[in-house]
Amino acid sequence: MVASSTSMVLLAALFATAALLTSGASAQLSTGYYKKTCPKVFDTVESVVMSAIDKEKRMGASLLRLHFHDCFVQGCDGSVLLDDTSSSRGEKTANPNVNSIRGFNVVDDIKSKVESVCPGVVSCADILAIAARDSTVILGGPTWDVKLGRRDSKTASLAAANSGVIPPPSSTLNNLINRFQNLGLSTKDMVVLSGSHTIGQARCTTFRGRIYNESNIDGSFARTRQGSCPRTSGSGDNNLAPLDLKSPTFFDGSYYKNLLDKKGLLHSDQVLYNGGSTDNLVEAYSKNPKAFANDFAAAMIKMGDISPLTGSSGEIRKNCRKAN
Ligand code: HEM
Ligand SMILES: *[C@@H]1O[C@H](CO)[C@@H](O)[C@H](O)[C@H]1NC(C)=O
Repeated sequence: MVASSTSMVLLAALFATAALLTSGASAQLSTGYYKKTCPKVFDTVESVVMSAIDKEKRMGASLLRLHFHDCFVQGCDGSVLLDDTSSSRGEKTANPNVNSIRGFNVVDDIKSKVESVCPGVVSCADILAIAARDSTVILGGPTWDVKLGRRDSKTASLAAANSGVIPPPSSTLNNLINRFQNLGLSTKDMVVLSGSHTIGQARCTTFRGRIYNESNIDGSFARTRQGSCPRTSGSGDNNLAPLDLKSPTFFDGSYYKNLLDKKGLLHSDQVLYNGGSTDNLVEAYSKNPKAFANDFAAAMIKMGDISPLTGSSGEIRKNCRKAN
């Protein structure tokens, strides 16, 4: 009896260890996380996102990108939302974000509405995940069940945001593949998530080199873009152009058709279709919008699973801009 109960305890301990080892933190996220504690969270987020996009279509793109830039720097933990403090600089002024990332006022608005229906319950990181999904759907893209239960970081890292984890638009195909792979995302995930560039805008400074210096670009497309993006660096740097020339406020698959036509705006867009290993995926998505929609939804769930804070890690911020 003694021997067998000892071995039972040992066995239980073994199983517990195995479970800990095999369950990444992401296993703790679930679609029903706020079912009891904040059943109105989805309606509340959606109504604010809806009115923000009503006012300005581009906001849907900006909110989708916020979730991406959050997840790629120390995981989906709301770190991108933290303002600089007197003692530490956050991610907002990092190279991939400065003069570029936007939507913080909308997030504040969502947060205050969510706080009024269930105070202290819903994290800012989860708000970003829901807002990214709602934005995609409102602009005509696919839907998915958002996994929830992320907690918010107490700190943000300027250095991490500047470390290249968010790849620059000058990236080679290999760099794009590696950066996504480092976070557990496949080449296919990278190609399908890049399809986000079917909506939104980019600044001249991010595509100047491409429209003046590259040869794998449609000539008349390059000339059109040159019209509002002067060659000389420093002039017109913030002038905007649509990432998808055909339908920049509609989440469709035309991004991939643009690549076939050598009309990708960013260098990092066109490298996906430039004689390399991802050409076949680009061709497939250009012909099959349904496959794009399905794979995009699956990849967004995977991206949302990157290193969340759960359990007693982090906190539920009261104000998305600062730690409690
Ligand atoms: C594959 C690597 C990627 C690179 C190199 C890249 C780069 C960029 C750049 C340079 C811009 C323009 C920013 C500006 O000029 O202010 C941009 C915009 C955007 N990106 Fe990406 N991106 C990548 C992947 C993604 C992913 C994975 C998503 C979402 C899941 C995404 C969503 C967006 C959206 C929606 C915009 C438009 C934002 C707006 O109009 O406010 N991007 N991206
Ligand atoms: C084009 O390439 C040349 C030579 O590498 C470089 O000096 C120039 O700055 C580039 N122009 C743009 C607009 O990027």
